Amino acid sequence: MRIYCGKDYEGASRIAANIISAQVIMKPDCVLGLATGSTPIGTYEQLIKWYEKGDLDFSAVHSINLDEYRGLKPDNDQSYRYFMNTHLFDSINIDKKNTFVPDGTEPDADKACKDYDEIIRSHGGIDLQVLGLGHNGHIGFNEPADSFCKGTQCVKLAESTISANARFFASADEVPKEAYTMGIGSIMQAKKVIVIVSGEGKAEIVKKAFLGPVTPQVPASILQLHNDVILVGDEAALAEYYKAV
Ligand code: F6R
Repeated sequence: MRIYCGKDYEGASRIAANIISAQVIMKPDCVLGLATGSTPIGTYEQLIKWYEKGDLDFSAVHSINLDEYRGLKPDNDQSYRYFMNTHLFDSINIDKKNTFVPDGTEPDADKACKDYDEIIRSHGGIDLQVLGLGHNGHIGFNEPADSFCKGTQCVKLAESTISANARFFASADEVPKEAYTMGIGSIMQAKKVIVIVSGEGKAEIVKKAFLGPVTPQVPASILQLHNDVILVGDEAALAEYYKAV
């Protein structure tokens, strides 16, 4: 695993954006696996700046997002489709037809998951997967569990995830209780993975995920077995990791 440390959130975001840019420049028709959440916002802002300067061209890029709340329509301002449109897609020249987010409006969970796996398969997998890290070690919405899930699944969100995400909703009661998420198997099949972490709130889980035992109780720990993982963080998020190595 390679680790890059930025001084602060902005520094880490710039490093992450550089890595994504390199991917887009080296392979203009690449498949990017994308994440939502607060962490990648700075990275996306930086990518937009470089696009506006004329340094990046997303016209041939395809993107496949990690997850979506079950039951939210794309125009709901808390849906992950809405997040991606407003934080990235609306501001770059990616063709929206080439951007994929699980269909939160599909009530048939089996169908939603199978359809998404077929989208991933038909794209030949993911070239670069961007990940954030949940406080409980989740990646995508793959919550701590007894086993690693291979394909897309419908998950019940952990209470800790619901309370962490309540900041985006009027109250915790309004946070959807279920989500569709890309499986750990698909994430592990990505050719390259970049995990972005920021803030002291992530310091303990970063240490646990990347130095602790590989266990489905800490889903991100499986990334220790991936042969091309880049961890990008700010000093605060990487502090406990560095103390332990
Ligand atoms: C989002 C996602 C989640 C987040 C994680 C961290 O698409 O899949 O796993 O990456 O919950 O969220 P933030 O960045 O808000 O701390």
